[in-house]
Amino acid sequence: MEIIIAGHAGFCFGVKRAISTAYETVDKAGGEVGTIGPLIHNPQVVSRLESVGVRPIENIRDFHGEALIIRSHGVSQSMVKTAEDAGIRLVDATCPFVKKAQEYARRLKEEGYTVVIVGDKNHPEVQGILSYAGESALVAAIPQDLDVLNKVRKIGIIAQTTTTFEKFEQVVKQCLHQANEIKIYNTICDETHVRQQEAQGIARRVDVMLVAGGRNSGNTTRLAELCRLTGTRTFHIETRDEIDPAWFHGAGKVGITAGASTPEWIIEEMIERLNQISGESV
Ligand code: F3S
Repeated sequence: MEIIIAGHAGFCFGVKRAISTAYETVDKAGGEVGTIGPLIHNPQVVSRLESVGVRPIENIRDFHGEALIIRSHGVSQSMVKTAEDAGIRLVDATCPFVKKAQEYARRLKEEGYTVVIVGDKNHPEVQGILSYAGESALVAAIPQDLDVLNKVRKIGIIAQTTTTFEKFEQVVKQCLHQANEIKIYNTICDETHVRQQEAQGIARRVDVMLVAGGRNSGNTTRLAELCRLTGTRTFHIETRDEIDPAWFHGAGKVGITAGASTPEWIIEEMIERLNQISGESV
């Protein structure tokens, strides 16, 4: 069995930075270190961090530890204010690309644009960006989400960093019908775009595609969706234990990619498992 591994599988720049910030903070802190929600969307990494004393917290007001880390996909302005008002020391691990999207949202609001964020309204990154975008802002995952918007004078558009270019393009096209003036910031992260293109390219060449990453990870879920669109059988898994040998009957080539918050050791374990299944070194 031949295995093709994506060159851009695993941790992105922003996730690496957030994890090293967490380890540095806990090394220096004399007490408990918390993260506002899980630091990244990968349960295996989050549990390793917990074992060294970095724990996700639900309620900022209940935190009495040494430092609180802001996760890679950012938080809302109100969460920052709550922490500051409570005298909590914040360590900001927001990815600089997410910060840029927050800054564009703030700028568009100040310039009088109705801000449209293309992405998943339930994702914490989007909720964070939304808090900078003003009350008239809305989130659109598909063009139909703009139906609630009457014709306005100016629309400013930004993207969740991990959304697909196609979705962004579709919503932008719809906005052209709903405003006289449009300003667009393409805030899709390059890492995301390259990873998605590469994953689809591999999926087209293989019989089975494995996409590794947290089920709560939006970018991993989108990678799996894109691979499925190629028509190749695709499985989104978190760990090697989920791999079922039956998936590979008759398969000559298997592709592997992984979300931006998937550590290298999970990918290595998957390769080991595939080795066992195929009974030969791959
Ligand atoms: Fe940042 Fe892009 Fe990763 S926005 S967190 S480098 S996917």
